[in-house]
Amino acid sequence: MSRNTLIKIASLILMVVSFIAYIAGASAFPIASENLLPWSVWFLISVIINIVLWSNVMKLLTFSLAVIWFYAFVASLVPESSTAVNLTELDWSDPEAVAEQGALVFNGKGQCSACHTVDTSAPKGRCPDLTDIGINAASRVPGTDAKTYLIESLYEPDKYLVPGYGKIMPEIWKAPIALSKLEIEAVIAYLQSQGGEIDPTPFDEPIDRADTAVAAAALPPLLTGDVEQGKKVFVSAACISCHAVQGIESPAAGETTTDFEVVTAPDLSEIAAFNDMRYLEESILLPSVQIVSGYGAVTVRANGTTYQGTLVSQDTEQIVVRTKTADGVEEEHTILLSELDEEPIEELSDLQAKGYFTLTLTPTDADAPVTGDIVSETDKTVTLKVNGEDKTFSKTEVKSQLTVLTFDGDEIVGAHISGTIDDDEIVLNVDGSEEVIDTFDVEEVTFTHASGKKLLITSPMPENFPLLLSVSDMTNLLSFLSTLTGATVEAVPAETNDASAE
Ligand code: HEC
Ligand code: HEC
Repeated sequence: MSRNTLIKIASLILMVVSFIAYIAGASAFPIASENLLPWSVWFLISVIINIVLWSNVMKLLTFSLAVIWFYAFVASLVPESSTAVNLTELDWSDPEAVAEQGALVFNGKGQCSACHTVDTSAPKGRCPDLTDIGINAASRVPGTDAKTYLIESLYEPDKYLVPGYGKIMPEIWKAPIALSKLEIEAVIAYLQSQGGEIDPTPFDEPIDRADTAVAAAALPPLLTGDVEQGKKVFVSAACISCHAVQGIESPAAGETTTDFEVVTAPDLSEIAAFNDMRYLEESILLPSVQIVSGYGAVTVRANGTTYQGTLVSQDTEQIVVRTKTADGVEEEHTILLSELDEEPIEELSDLQAKGYFTLTLTPTDADAPVTGDIVSETDKTVTLKVNGEDKTFSKTEVKSQLTVLTFDGDEIVGAHISGTIDDDEIVLNVDGSEEVIDTFDVEEVTFTHASGKKLLITSPMPENFPLLLSVSDMTNLLSFLSTLTGATVEAVPAETNDASAE
């Protein structure tokens, strides 16, 4: 055999072996794997040698293999779709492999990647970026370790909300996503592999799948309405003046024929992809119950200035409010919650519903006012955290507070000791020290029972839809909204074209 023939045969063998190895997944072959040259590179080298050295028949074989390899290669670049994973068992002897299976669930069936990124350079969206969640999970909730936190994030996403984000994350173990326990275990391994250690300890699900199956079956069937009629309601009830929906023309600016002030609102083109009917119904009938993060309206006063605008973000220490000046310029203000002004409270009822989170009051049997964060409240009492301890106060046994507004624009709040606007002077106890105010300087006094800091977030969406919409309007509207999954928008006109062509 000539040297040339040897090279030809060797290269043919290399081509076939590397082809099979590549298709079968290189790890099955111990000789060469990713750390030497990848099988695809060996394959391409041998293809080139074969095409140069061999004549017709072998050239054809080489070429055919190269085409098959090319298709397999392209297919491997496309991310695995949801149907590609069907976990039946996890091999914890290789935690990295479990994490890889979790990545498939994350990008596929779990739909996590529709909301979350794992890439710090991605623009900040409505959902947290999960880069380094493996480490961060350990410090989110004091006293909760990383794995427990992740388990809770997935099974009960509403229980702890990452500051600044709304209740958007679905309970991914429930329909329609419906991840199995194995899939969730794999996803957790994947999340832990983002900067942390994979913890293979088995866990019990904090939910009862059987219970919810029964509960779901017991729910009444959802009403079905007329989608086309619903689309008309969407336009006539003026939803379209605030919300964009792909495929429906929004009224031109300045051309609105409605009573509503047009505001920036979420695009609803894909609203049904991740939200069920019940959420949609609640969004329309009780818009302030769950407010989409970044769209809430707030009015707060800090250091004497009033800020009215959109709540951009919020955490336990500060808020960011976007305001618009009279000439339309947008400004963002970062305001520390501790800097919010105390507002006088005339009536001590439903404090938390009104947005109060701290309270200053003077019990009738005490001299100095008490200040604390509101922990809980009943009709008759309110519990405050005062210096780290929970203390309960009666709402009726409090000293009156007086708010004095002077002609200079100063506002003095304190417990009333003596004097009214008709006397020469008014004496107040402000932060424990007595303050005497000459009534000559006083413009106005208001008696209140307490004061407190307040942050009330409301939805800019009108609240009167329950009155405006009839039951059939509402049913049709919900049926229309439930078609907005993002996918149908293109599909619908295509179908109608086909029908009219026949
Ligand atoms: C519809 C959008 C959406 C989908 C789908 C979704 N999430 Fe979330 N997720 C959120 C939002 C919003 C938050 C922040 C609010 C909260 O804590 O619930 C969040 C929070 C989290 C957190 C806590 C993050 C942190 O920084 O502490 C984890 C972990 C998480 N999601 C994992 C997942 C996984 C895994 C999936 C897929 C199985 C998934 N999410 C699917 C929207 C989503
Ligand atoms: C004045 C403007 C305005 C009008 C009119 C309006 N909305 Fe809204 N809507 C908003 C804003 C702002 C939000 C976001 C704040 C929130 O969650 O309440 C919102 C939220 C929603 C959401 C939740 C969106 C999400 O991403 O979770 C739905 C669904 C919705 N609106 C449907 C409707 C429908 C249906 C109508 C008509 C019947 C309507 N809206 C009319 C301003 C408006």
